[in-house]
Amino acid sequence: MSLEEVKSKINQLSEQLHHYNYMYYVKSESLVSDYEFDMLLKELEALEAQFPELVDANSPSKRVGGTVTKNFESVTHRFPMLSLSNSYSKDEIVEWEARIKKTIEQDIEYVCELKYDGVAIGIRYINGVFHSAVTRGDGAQGELVSSNVRTINSVPLKLKGAFPSDFEIRGEIFLPLQEFERLNQERSAEGLALYANPRNTASGTLKLQDSRMVSKRNLDCYLYGMYEERSSYTSHYQAVLAAGKMGFKVPLAEQRKIEKVKDVNGILAFIDYWDQARKSLPFEIDGIVIKINAYTQQEELGYTAKSPRWAIAYKFQAERVETKIESVTYQVGRTGAVTPVANLRPVYLGGTTVKRASLHNAEQIEKLGLHENDLVYVEKGGEIIPKIVGVNVSKRMTPARRVVFISDCPACNKALTKIQGEAQHYCTHASICPPQVKGKIEHFISRKAMDIDGLGAETIDTLVEKELIRDIGDLYALRFDQLIDLDRMAEKSVNNLLEGISDSKNRPFEKVLFGIGIRYVGETVSKKLAKAFRTIDNIINASYESLVETDEIGEKIAQSIRLFLEDETNIALINKLKAAGLCFETEEQVLSSSILEGQTVVISGTFERISRSEMKKLIEENGGKNGSSISKKTNLLVAGDNMGPSKLKKAVDLNIEMVNEEEFLKRIQYD
Ligand code: IVH
Repeated sequence: MSLEEVKSKINQLSEQLHHYNYMYYVKSESLVSDYEFDMLLKELEALEAQFPELVDANSPSKRVGGTVTKNFESVTHRFPMLSLSNSYSKDEIVEWEARIKKTIEQDIEYVCELKYDGVAIGIRYINGVFHSAVTRGDGAQGELVSSNVRTINSVPLKLKGAFPSDFEIRGEIFLPLQEFERLNQERSAEGLALYANPRNTASGTLKLQDSRMVSKRNLDCYLYGMYEERSSYTSHYQAVLAAGKMGFKVPLAEQRKIEKVKDVNGILAFIDYWDQARKSLPFEIDGIVIKINAYTQQEELGYTAKSPRWAIAYKFQAERVETKIESVTYQVGRTGAVTPVANLRPVYLGGTTVKRASLHNAEQIEKLGLHENDLVYVEKGGEIIPKIVGVNVSKRMTPARRVVFISDCPACNKALTKIQGEAQHYCTHASICPPQVKGKIEHFISRKAMDIDGLGAETIDTLVEKELIRDIGDLYALRFDQLIDLDRMAEKSVNNLLEGISDSKNRPFEKVLFGIGIRYVGETVSKKLAKAFRTIDNIINASYESLVETDEIGEKIAQSIRLFLEDETNIALINKLKAAGLCFETEEQVLSSSILEGQTVVISGTFERISRSEMKKLIEENGGKNGSSISKKTNLLVAGDNMGPSKLKKAVDLNIEMVNEEEFLKRIQYD
């Protein structure tokens, strides 16, 4: 190919990918399969690798990230980024509207929108291409986060149709609820503290140094305003419609996410509608924004120092109740982190009865100034996790004692440690502290790690209490005669359990690595480590520097790995597991076929001829990828016995190809 031909091929691929991307992420319409999309992207990436001089900063390949920014540059906003004045009652909205009417004598149109609960962003486009993205900062200056924003699939990198030659569009970046939950599930599996709410997580994500990490978080962005030296439009509504035509994700009138109304009654109806309907939105909103539509009228009303007079936010009341703290207890997680928990007099809040709320750490108790028996205000923080937001000091009993964070572990009575720079207190006596011992075993046997069937939390409790096991290594020494005497253990369950344990010796190295429970080493990191270092001995001998050089491994993870492997108890445990026959090396993966190449396969239920884990292995050996749940990305569902009805429905709804065990085995020519 001549250079010109390459250029035109790159152009053609880019256009195609931009379009598919737009249709999928903005219009929710899938025009090609993930496989086809990935193939086109790979083709583009290959050309770009060969001809780096032809790589465009806004190439669709930039969506996956790849830039590391140590310090975000500070830039001055061309138009100050103001905030909105807030109101918390409908009366205030009525008063605001009445004030507006006094200044503006003509008819007024109001535009009602959702107040997205995320992070504000300003994105500049020059000649129809993404130029830069800046956070709000202090309103006058923000941080340049362009490479991170480029990874957001709903943000166009090239515009369509007609657009002003140089403008800024502002909007809100947010983390969809489903993504937030997925992230927290991952964190919980890794023994990490959970993120408090989607907004903070979105804001933290936007400031990550590695844009590849940002890309994985699947942020989303709604746009809500156009800014130009001289506006090309006459009203806000018109500008939003125009932005939609350029390819931006804007609120749609047919979903009632934006509405033009004539008077305060229209505004109030919109508020009432969303106060209910927000509960089923896939992202969080914290209120409604009302704006005057006509730009001439906006100018007439002008600004205060901080906010425009032509707009106001109505904030939904976070549901809040008052209840009494009956006690504060402390939980020890598998990593030894100690979390204080407030046990509350049960109270009904936002659809559920709340009995407990996390107090997070010692600092939080200090901040609240918590005393025993205090009456506290509880809110559903982000409507997900109940949160104590304050104390009703006027109802405090006198005398009252302050709640003082414990100094010894509630489970093993050893002194707690506070690591500088970390909020949490830790019990560092992992090998004797029962919740840590049990937690580590539970993690080890969990589905995503060693996937040992037949062992539940209760059995683990019993085994630990009866001192049959002290660590994960002891599992492999368990005998039939020890187990059959336990309560509720019939012959069949004992055999199941022993079989499950023995079967786990076939798990690949990466699963073992994840299972041994090194702090911050989750599934992904384990895979990367196993791939990069191949054997546990290589990891044990790896320097901090060589760990940090590994893909996905930063300073914190590297430190944690070193700390774990410098501990003799852990090395002894690894040796014990080695002796039991567990896999501590990456096997060269030999593909039996590439029949499933590019396909994401989900398995469900149980199978007759082979176990679930063998099924997963077969999928990988034939070039496929194992998906954890059914989504648009799933290409094939292997349905076993007892498959859940909701899974089935989802697969049918998404029109996903389904095969049974036999058909599947035939497809991969397994005999
Ligand atoms: S308009 C001059 N519209 O709310 C102010 N803001 O305090 C222009 N926000 O951080 C803002 N949804 O990021 C506007 N539909 C919406 C919004 C919205 C959320 C955020 C905005 C800012 C805060 C305003």
